[in-house]
Amino acid sequence: LNPGEEVLVPSPDYPLWSAATILNDGRPVYYRCAPENGFLPDPVEVEGLVSSRTRAIVLINPNNPTGAVYPRELLEKLVAIARRHNLLLLVDEIYDQVLYDGAKFEPLAPIADDHPCITFSGLSKVHRACGWRVGWAILTGTAARTTDYRNALDLLSGLRLCANVAGQYAIAAAVNGPDTISELCSPGGRLYETRRAVVEACAASEHLRLVVPQGALYAFPSVIGAAARGFDDHQFALELLETENVLIVPGSSFNVPYRDHFRVTLLPQAQVMGEVFTRIDRALGRRAEAAGKVVPIQAKARHAAA
Ligand SMILES: Cc1ncc(COP(=O)(O)O)c(C=O)c1O
Repeated sequence: LNPGEEVLVPSPDYPLWSAATILNDGRPVYYRCAPENGFLPDPVEVEGLVSSRTRAIVLINPNNPTGAVYPRELLEKLVAIARRHNLLLLVDEIYDQVLYDGAKFEPLAPIADDHPCITFSGLSKVHRACGWRVGWAILTGTAARTTDYRNALDLLSGLRLCANVAGQYAIAAAVNGPDTISELCSPGGRLYETRRAVVEACAASEHLRLVVPQGALYAFPSVIGAAARGFDDHQFALELLETENVLIVPGSSFNVPYRDHFRVTLLPQAQVMGEVFTRIDRALGRRAEAAGKVVPIQAKARHAAA
């Protein structure tokens, strides 16, 4: 990127994409993936953000932190925008096989066809080899339009020292090996059952609302009702850690303008997750009760007048 050039990044985002843009002298411009729209982007809004400085658009599908899985029709519209404005497509599909309840994942590159697209993935999610530091990027699109970029990538990788060579041998074994993730995402499977525990806990809580995640390893609930009055996600995360020994990530860490969401991962056992949400609900109940005790200013004034 040249200084000041822009990259369209989803909000919420996986913050590495904002960081990568900023570290390359660019400016992230956020497109909304609103909870009321199932955390899907609105293509009209996305196109409205394109300027003469826009160079690329980032898609994260399936999404961290929301669990949204993008339908084909939406992806087609986003590709059309990239074509119209000559934007590079950067698509993070690291959760491509972490899907629930029959959700269908559509890879972007075949839809983009001859348009330049870089697909990112790795071993840390579907193959659960996080810590091995092994990932990859697949460059697709007409060779004439991507050759310079490919050469630059070659040069860059030649300049870097100590790629994880041993770890790279694991890639072929993993991607050509048996499917070990589908079972975990199906009824009775570890991830499925934890997700079920989260979905049920949010449905039973008067303080929480959840857009049910269709993929990935997270849930991104919001706080509603009396507990939401004056709610601050960072303050709540700290309070929850200190009073209930539960660690969550505040929603605004994912570059959203609102502060009433938080993220949990689906990695603990379902039973543990049930207990986690009992504690979250207890903390939110305390907040709701405290909010109820605060006398609204108008009522206070009336009181004084009487
Ligand atoms: C959307 C997304 N992309 C990429 C990564 C990076 O994964 P890793 O650094 O483990 O390869 C993560 C990890 O959480 C992620 O959520």
